[in-house]
Amino acid sequence: MAVKKGVPRIVVQGGNRLSGELSIQGAKNSILPLLSGTVLCQGESVLHNCPNLTDADAACRILTCLGCKCVREGGSITVNSRHLLNTDVPVELMREMRSSIVFLGAILGRTRECRLSFPGGCELGPRPIDLHVMALRKMGVNIEEEHGYLNCNAPKGINGAYISLSLPSVGATENIILAAATAKGTTEIHNAAREPEIVDLADFLNKCGAKISGAGTGAVVIEGVQALNGAEHEVIPDRIVTATYLCSAAITRGELVLKNADSSHISAIIPVLEQMGCSIYVYGDNRIYINAARTLNAPHKIRTSAHPGFPTDAQPMFMALASTLKGTTVFVETIFDNRFRHAQELSRLGAKISTHDRVAVVEGVQRLTGAELEATDLRGGAALVTAALFAEGTTGITGISHIDRGYDDIVGNLKKTGANITAT
Ligand code: EPZ
Repeated sequence: MAVKKGVPRIVVQGGNRLSGELSIQGAKNSILPLLSGTVLCQGESVLHNCPNLTDADAACRILTCLGCKCVREGGSITVNSRHLLNTDVPVELMREMRSSIVFLGAILGRTRECRLSFPGGCELGPRPIDLHVMALRKMGVNIEEEHGYLNCNAPKGINGAYISLSLPSVGATENIILAAATAKGTTEIHNAAREPEIVDLADFLNKCGAKISGAGTGAVVIEGVQALNGAEHEVIPDRIVTATYLCSAAITRGELVLKNADSSHISAIIPVLEQMGCSIYVYGDNRIYINAARTLNAPHKIRTSAHPGFPTDAQPMFMALASTLKGTTVFVETIFDNRFRHAQELSRLGAKISTHDRVAVVEGVQRLTGAELEATDLRGGAALVTAALFAEGTTGITGISHIDRGYDDIVGNLKKTGANITAT
């Protein structure tokens, strides 16, 4: 594929072993629901350890559009939601980021009405919101879908309800918690998502005066309170970025120390790396050390599942790593329909991957060679960067706006630890 002039591109000369230490950014999938949660507060909130991401910027634009005052100073974002002036999220902002749907529960919780467009599908296939709608209707919200918009209101207020989810949806769990925090009565969620980002959201809302218990388990109970004030909160580390840099160390047979990392959030990932032959040590002060300087063997099978299982968001980077291991790895993707799009691009480097529905078979090869690639989604893009670190010669990657959605300076971090990588 010829290099397109003037198109932003990451260029990697593969083959360098990574070595050194990195500090892990705040979690993208935490900062988004946390920013949404500030809408519930009738005052000022300050969030620290906020990553510099285009998705976080998009969320701040939504807050500003609602009438909040949103100011970023370095790694901290201050949001003053005292005067909410608007309850509509403009379609262009909804389109920018599918996860804007998580604003629905908070806007309803604060104003009892909301109008937003259906979240755009994204590169991972259709992104239904039937569970969000089912739950909010059970809580007394009228939701009409017309011309691609959701018109929602709860003239009699929002009531607590008993909600059982057919699958542990992260976004639906977050929206229910946000709508229930100031509802009349108590809400119980069964089969709730257990991701660390749910715990982070509950911790923040409880600091604001909410009464939420059980976050991180399948049964979350929210006792509605009158109103919430603002609070100060530190965003948890990004577990998927942690997994990404662990894969970067492993694929280059290098060694890294990751600071501000929480190993308890990646308990399904560490054993897989150890099974491959990596040495991993966890130090008490949130540091993880990985050494991969040896022959690494395929882990044979990686099956994604809801937390605390192997995270679907780490599957693409592990597929890149598996392409270079001795032996065959079978990936089973149980969360999304269409999450192997990076396989085709990895094959352009010489990876041997065959996919069928939600199963991918990866036969490790000794060599990958550089090529021109295009990122199609956030974690798929991270997988291409990971593979490029190993591939001999030059690899160019376009579509890097996908990567900027979730990685705060991935090029700078990899360069700092020895990669020959630039962004043009
Ligand atoms: C969150 O997406 C994350 N995004 C995703 O990370 C992550 O992959 C996903 O959770 C699973 O862990 C954010 O937190 C911003 P779900 P979300 O609702 O909430 C189906 C990344 O790379 N479903 O748990 O959209 C859905 O189609 C992103 O950082 C319904 O059927 O995920 C999917 O198959 C990608 N109906 C499955 O459930 C619904 O109403 C899991 O979706 C909702 C979801």
